[in-house]
Amino acid sequence: MREAGVNLVNLGIFSWSRLQPGPDEFDFEWLDRVMDLLNEGGIKVDLATATASPPPWLSHQHPEMLPVLADGVRLWPGARQHYCPSSPVYRDAARNLVERLSARYKDHPALVMWHVGNEYGCHVAACYCDVSARDFRAWLRDRYGSLEGLNRAWGTDFWSQRYSDWEEILPPRQAPTWPNPSQCLDFLRFSSDALLACYEVERAVLAKATPGVPITTNFMRFFKPLDYWKWAAHEDIVSDDVYQDPSEPEASSLDAAMAGDLMRSLGQGRPWILMEQTTSRVNWRPVNVPKSPGQMRLWSFQAVARGADGVLFFQWRQSRSGAEKFHSAMVPHGPIESWPTWREVVQVGSELGRLDALCGSRVPAEVAIVFDWESWWALEQPSKPSANVRALEQVQAYYAPLYRANITADFAHPEADLKAYKLVLVPNLYLVSDAAAAGLTAYVSGGGRLVMSYFSGIVDPADQIRLGGYPAPFAEMLGLRVEDFAPLAEAETVPVRFGGGQRATGRTWSELIRPAGAEVLARFDDGDLEAEPAVTRHEFGRGAAYYIGTTLDSIAMGALLEKAWTEAGVATVGDAPSGVEAVRRNGAAGSYLFLLNHRDAEVEVEVGPGVDALTGERIAAGRLRIADYGVAIIKEDSLPRQAASRGRGPDQP
Ligand code: GLA
Repeated sequence: MREAGVNLVNLGIFSWSRLQPGPDEFDFEWLDRVMDLLNEGGIKVDLATATASPPPWLSHQHPEMLPVLADGVRLWPGARQHYCPSSPVYRDAARNLVERLSARYKDHPALVMWHVGNEYGCHVAACYCDVSARDFRAWLRDRYGSLEGLNRAWGTDFWSQRYSDWEEILPPRQAPTWPNPSQCLDFLRFSSDALLACYEVERAVLAKATPGVPITTNFMRFFKPLDYWKWAAHEDIVSDDVYQDPSEPEASSLDAAMAGDLMRSLGQGRPWILMEQTTSRVNWRPVNVPKSPGQMRLWSFQAVARGADGVLFFQWRQSRSGAEKFHSAMVPHGPIESWPTWREVVQVGSELGRLDALCGSRVPAEVAIVFDWESWWALEQPSKPSANVRALEQVQAYYAPLYRANITADFAHPEADLKAYKLVLVPNLYLVSDAAAAGLTAYVSGGGRLVMSYFSGIVDPADQIRLGGYPAPFAEMLGLRVEDFAPLAEAETVPVRFGGGQRATGRTWSELIRPAGAEVLARFDDGDLEAEPAVTRHEFGRGAAYYIGTTLDSIAMGALLEKAWTEAGVATVGDAPSGVEAVRRNGAAGSYLFLLNHRDAEVEVEVGPGVDALTGERIAAGRLRIADYGVAIIKEDSLPRQAASRGRGPDQP
């Protein structure tokens, strides 16, 4: 570990059955030994609470703590995460273990952080058993106060679903056809909260035992079942697990950048930790392609570039047994010396050791992408005009042009204060609260620039249609009304023509837009909606709002966003050849420019003067060579004015 530069170990994650071999039996001696050894080696510990996989004796004695699926099937133990989040048996047993663990190690010199559970919701994100049903009803009483309030919010007159007693209410179990969508949405909220309550049971114990020790649990990028905005508020440090697919390096790099930006944003801009990645292969894809030489290093620094202050691996030593024995690790099954990846592990460890001055620095962003779990959940429930409007695909359609232009974006909750941003992007915000609608409108009227896509502002938080003409809360700001939706068939496209004559293609969606003050930038160019508006722009108050009524092809989307960011005066981090990601971190120690070459070929990038943060060598202004999958981190001599973005003039997306 010392050779690899390891200074933090995430320890004991799945060790409950070793720590507590029976209900009244505890065995901490082996863990004492590991903690002491690490401490003697100068290595700190992020100690896990070990509660993600209950021991066999617990489910044997209390089979009622096992989770139940929507169709009534109860899951068996034998893998991991086999617990019902609402189970008092599970929560009490977890609390008991964490009390003992924290009492034993609270003063241990190696302890620097607590790792609660592990990847909450990864395998079991919701439980439909009777205990969960009872808990769900309590949650609903809290939310609605009265049965009348619940009946109104869920629209239960429809399909004769009116409840006359709380006991009649169930989780949305397998039913003849679509269950009530408002009920489903509340069950998703409840299920995220139920797991958060499990986390809270443990966090409360730890916070009391060790008030100064930070507490985290590892997230999983854009993980649908958990509302990470809510969760992150309960963490001292946000941490994330990222497993790129080396067989799709381009898509994986973009995804990982996006996840990094999300993690930073969840922590309100504070540094986060890359808690897990693999050195090479995973074991859980049908085919597990290895990372190419250099790619692990590249992706490690990509996380750092996007705000991570720590980089860890799952796992230290490759297992000899168990379900993950073919998952790679820092130490392989075979001899370590001849394994090329070990050399890369050692290199990354030593390079990270040279970046201490970077710790705590921030990643500036002038653009915010509005993202909301509740809207995601509501959007992707069945029985919509189109099942092909998928939240993450739409977010990516906005993110990709920024990423390629080296414009860093934050993610923002719809109700966040957006004043600091020059440009706000709103991909398909189907569900919107009154506060969010008011906030976004005030942002534009106050001088902000905003781009919004179709099927936004359609329902309220109860998933009830906002009446008065689509998109009711935004119609005035956008200067238009949508008369009706006209989703496109699976493989159908529609031509779109911009005012300047440029042609584009729309897919997934079209709609009949009636401008009421908005300027038409592009029109549909064929079909029933021929000559009707497809893309608009509306000056509203001191700002302006763009609206896109289809999914534009990536070139047109990029050009439209470029028009918007140019108008907003958004700066790029710098010009770099395609395939080279440029990100900047600023802090007390100065400004660091990260250049990440995702290409399998050497590139040259124009840079300003500075010092190579990894080698300490001076870098003169001019062209800098970066090897295939290479990384340059330049401590810049002075904070450069971020390169001005190039505009293309009006009507020329
Ligand atoms: C997750 C888990 C780890 C391990 C890895 C495998 O990140 O937290 O325990 O299963 O996946 O990739």
